[in-house]
Amino acid sequence: MKRIAVLASGTGTNLEAILEAQHRGEISGRVALVLSDQAEAKALGRARRRGVEALYMNPKEYGGREGYDRALVEHLKAAGIDLVVLAGFMRLISPYFVNAYPLQIMNIHPSLLPAFPGLEGVEQALHYGVKVSGCTVHFVDEGLDTGPIILQEAVPVIQEDTVDTLHQRIHAVEYRLYPTAIDLFCRDKLKVEGRRCFIID
Ligand code: GRF
Repeated sequence: MKRIAVLASGTGTNLEAILEAQHRGEISGRVALVLSDQAEAKALGRARRRGVEALYMNPKEYGGREGYDRALVEHLKAAGIDLVVLAGFMRLISPYFVNAYPLQIMNIHPSLLPAFPGLEGVEQALHYGVKVSGCTVHFVDEGLDTGPIILQEAVPVIQEDTVDTLHQRIHAVEYRLYPTAIDLFCRDKLKVEGRRCFIID
């Protein structure tokens, strides 16, 4: 059974969806640890309420990005983590971290990558005027939202949309897509060749 760590900075509704999917037996792995860089992150409470170990690590205590990531990786390795899931984790991951978990770190982004990477993907898409946006689950490499795409699903933009309404509909898709991608990983069903990620039968 693969051991999963979820890293989250904020509300953690994706974390909740992942924990619910696990509870329903839809993920053949176990969330063993939740880590946050924000003391007040609601994600920490969500984890604790479900009996999952939750840890706040203050970035100011570790001297810079790489120092922080070294400490993170130390915790993850000590906990025997096989898969790192970023769920609204608002920090850039250092090359050190990526190399410690090659093709074992996933992220979810609220746009159809490679369109609108970085911060505020929903806002960027809405202001650009696209008629279709969506969300993307991808492996994390050293770039910003550039790693191999695992799953992607479109969400139509409607005329009346605000950032909030569009983000709500994207969130609803994320709650289904992220657990699916995690389960595929846990069942060793993902194979990456170059930029392409294949689902093995
Ligand atoms: C999600 O929209 C995700 O795509 C982005 O950050 C948001 C996290 O939301 N990476 P939540 O904390 O899971 O509610």
